[in-house]
Amino acid sequence: MMKTIAIIATGGTIAGQGSASNYKAGEIDVNSIIESIPRINELANLHLISLCQKDSNDMSEKDWLDLRNLCYALGNDESVDGIVITHGTDSFEETAYFLNLTLDIDKPVVMTGAMRPATATSADGPMNLYEAVALACDEQAKDAGILAVFSDTIYSGRDITKTNSIKTDAFKMGEFGTLGYMRDEKVYLQNMPYRLHTYQSEFAKKDYQILPKVGIYYVHACCDPELLSWMLDCYDGVVLAGSGSGNYPKTTQDVINAYMGKAKIVRSSRILEGAVFDSEVFDPLNKTIPAYRLSPHKARILLMVALANGYDDQALQRVFEYY
Ligand code: SIN
Repeated sequence: MMKTIAIIATGGTIAGQGSASNYKAGEIDVNSIIESIPRINELANLHLISLCQKDSNDMSEKDWLDLRNLCYALGNDESVDGIVITHGTDSFEETAYFLNLTLDIDKPVVMTGAMRPATATSADGPMNLYEAVALACDEQAKDAGILAVFSDTIYSGRDITKTNSIKTDAFKMGEFGTLGYMRDEKVYLQNMPYRLHTYQSEFAKKDYQILPKVGIYYVHACCDPELLSWMLDCYDGVVLAGSGSGNYPKTTQDVINAYMGKAKIVRSSRILEGAVFDSEVFDPLNKTIPAYRLSPHKARILLMVALANGYDDQALQRVFEYY
């Protein structure tokens, strides 16, 4: 029997109009995109939902929560077998990680997008969407957390990172490779995500209304320590996008050492590969929490979600180690 897949459109270049180098994201409705894809209706019964038509740079925390609620409702709808989400590529990995942490679902959820707009010569969106629907129909995609498909490659929502600003093969998972690949509608999964996700996540049962305010402080030569002081005064949490393995200048360390307020400080790195651990050299007073492998913008999401659950320093240390 044919499966039913809900496709939730949120905008992005996959729904963009214009040429490959000059276009506006989120202009074309999901029905028109589907009409442009030969044989996609042979894969599954498609239930099309347009949630928003946004450039993903404009996705707000409210949009994340609306998307989570919609996916949750579809997860509980017996007539739906899987979910595909179309999304802009710029903030793709942030939405993917937010859903991976907070969505209580065990049905396949596959995200995709495009680097060339729907109207460009050789648009990549139609094939990405075709393969995303095929993956969402596959039993192997269950229990895998949020998945993503781009350029015939399967990624995990936790580790996917945009690494190229113009090419269609724009995503990677760094030194962790990929989860597998697609050949048209055939799925070749090779690895499974190990970190806790979706229905396994302790963050998936809570009803979030608003999320705490967390900002990212970018470390660079001569970075302004007053900006960090200001952020610590204004935010519930600050993620340091440190150099190397979460490092920073002495002037930054002085601000951290002197800080006595309530905001939580997470140390991550602006470097794409490797990890950040506890550091007696950079944080001798143990005032920060290491982000391990998470990029600054993903560490920000985990910190927001953990703070929304009222977690203290010890609990934060634990979740950064396990999620
Ligand atoms: C966006 O993120 O919405 C625009 C860029 C893209 O989708 O590639």
